[in-house]
This record gives sequence, structure tokens and C-alpha cells, in this order.
Amino acid sequence: MNKKNLKMSYTTLLTVIENNTCIITINRPDKLNALNKDVFTDLDNVMDEVIRNTEIKSAIITGAGPKAFVAGADITEFAGLNKDQAMALAQRGQDVFFKIENSPKPIVAAVNGFALGGGCELAMACHFRLCSENAKFGQPEVNLGLIPGYGGTQRLTQLVGKGKSMELQMTGNMIDANEALQLGLVNHVATTESLLQKTKDILQVVHNKAPVAVSKIIECINTAVVNDDNISGYKKEVAAFGECFITDDMKEGTTAFLEKRKAIFTGK
Ligand code: COA
Repeated sequence: MNKKNLKMSYTTLLTVIENNTCIITINRPDKLNALNKDVFTDLDNVMDEVIRNTEIKSAIITGAGPKAFVAGADITEFAGLNKDQAMALAQRGQDVFFKIENSPKPIVAAVNGFALGGGCELAMACHFRLCSENAKFGQPEVNLGLIPGYGGTQRLTQLVGKGKSMELQMTGNMIDANEALQLGLVNHVATTESLLQKTKDILQVVHNKAPVAVSKIIECINTAVVNDDNISGYKKEVAAFGECFITDDMKEGTTAFLEKRKAIFTGK
């Protein structure tokens, strides 16, 4: 196997290039790989490197540890944010995820456990997804008095349809790997041990195809699902995420999570 290191090093990511695929592992396993500011900085920079580095033909995003892909945005960073700061947080997340979605090289999520909130949104920003049998997907923001802010209201709807997207986001319920497969949220389910290899194998098939054609496929399919209306949907999501931040329910929801108790919402 041909293994190489990237030029830059990243504090929150493990990275390696194997047979022209860059494997990006989000590495905060004690916090279930929750997305904090540093992870966003690293993901932003590593995507630039993936796109620029001619050794790299594709990338896989996965999570460290046996339990989680990514359990969401880091809820500890929500405390004390005002509406404008919350909107800036959502915009930052959307911008980094647009960079992944619009990469001219294939970016695939290998979902190895919980993919909740921002984790599900990160997986959905990738070009397609595989998962392990223990994977769980969901948009549980409503439990915090919040909504998804990194494109989840838009991409989940694109991937699973309006009715199921409504139900999943209103209930905050998690779904397992088989339901994710049935809904088309993931393309394949693998054992935990074989997930990464199966993802690499699919990308090796793509590496043998014409790179310009592959990048044009990405561009055209993205254009099919991201039209002007969807762009305004993403903007609406940023604004609505900010509106949620000035409610008592958001303070109650996030405090309850950090205090490990059930939230009591009042509608204020
Ligand atoms: N933000 C910050 N910290 C998080 C986190 C998040 N989104 N998700 C998990 N963690 C932290 C926990 O606080 C805990 O830290 P601690 O050990 O310092 O207390 C650690 O990761 C392990 O999580 P824990 O909740 O103890 O694991 P669990 O197996 O009991 O539950 C989950 C797993 C995924 C069900 C649970 O962690 C969870 O509900 N996470 C939040 C999911 C969410 O709401 N995401 C959307 C955010 S917008």
C-alpha cells in the first residue's frame, strides 16, 4: 500500500493519504467528535489541501473511536451566544460544508457510529455515505430548542424527501443503519471492521475514471439539487437558527443537556 502524509498537520484531525485517498478522521473521541471551532478550522484547511494536492484523488471523512462519527456541533460553545453570533456560527458551518459539497474530487462519509445534528449534516454534505451496522442518524436539535444550522433542513429534505425530513426534525428521533439505507440516506451498510475498506474500494473504482468527468458529475448533480430556491432555504436556516438562540427554550434545552437532565420547554 502506498501511504503518505499531508503537508499540513491538524490539531483535531488525523490525516493520511492511502492509495491517493486522503483519510480524514475527526479526532475528539472523548467528546464523541463534536464539531467545535477548531474542527471547523481544520476541516476548512484540510479541504483546501485535498483540492490542491495532486497526489489526492478523493477523500473519506470518518470519526475516531468505536462510538461516534460526529455527535453534533459542540453544545458547550453555544452558551452566551447572541442572535448575530449564532447566525455567524451557522454561516461558518454552512460555508465549510459547501466547500466539501462543491469539492471537484469525491468526498465520501464513512459513518462509524452516531451521526447526530452537525454530524448528520457533515455526512450529508459529502457526495455520498456508507455506514457501519451500529450507526445512528438524527437531527436532535429540537430537543435543545433549536433547529439544524449547517444545512440539515435543506440536505435531509433533498436526500429523504419532505415528509420523512419533517418527521425526523420535528421528533428529533434517531434512525438506525437499516432505516438510513431504506431511506437513501446511506448507499451501503458494512460491518464496523469492513466499513473503511468498502469505502476505499468504491473510491478506487472512481480513481480509474476520468477525473474531469468525475468533477463535472459532481458539479452537475449539485446543480440539480442546489438551485436558487435551495440557496434561499440555506439563508432562511441561518436566520431561523439565530431566532432560536434568543428563546428561553434554547437556553433551557442546552443547559438541560449539559446538566444531563430532561428539558422542560415553555414556548418562550
Ligand atoms: N457537544 C458537546 N459535547 C458532547 C456532544 C455535543 N454535541 N455530544 C456528546 N458530548 C460529550 C458529552 O457531554 C460527554 O462529555 P463528558 O464525558 O465530559 O460528560 C461525552 O461527549 C460522551 O457523551 P455521553 O452523552 O456521555 O455519551 P452517551 O453514550 O451517554 O450518549 C449521545 C451519546 C450521542 C446520545 C449523547 O452524547 C447526545 O445526545 N449528544 C448530543 C447530540 C446532539 O444533541 N447533537 C446536536 C447538537 S446541535
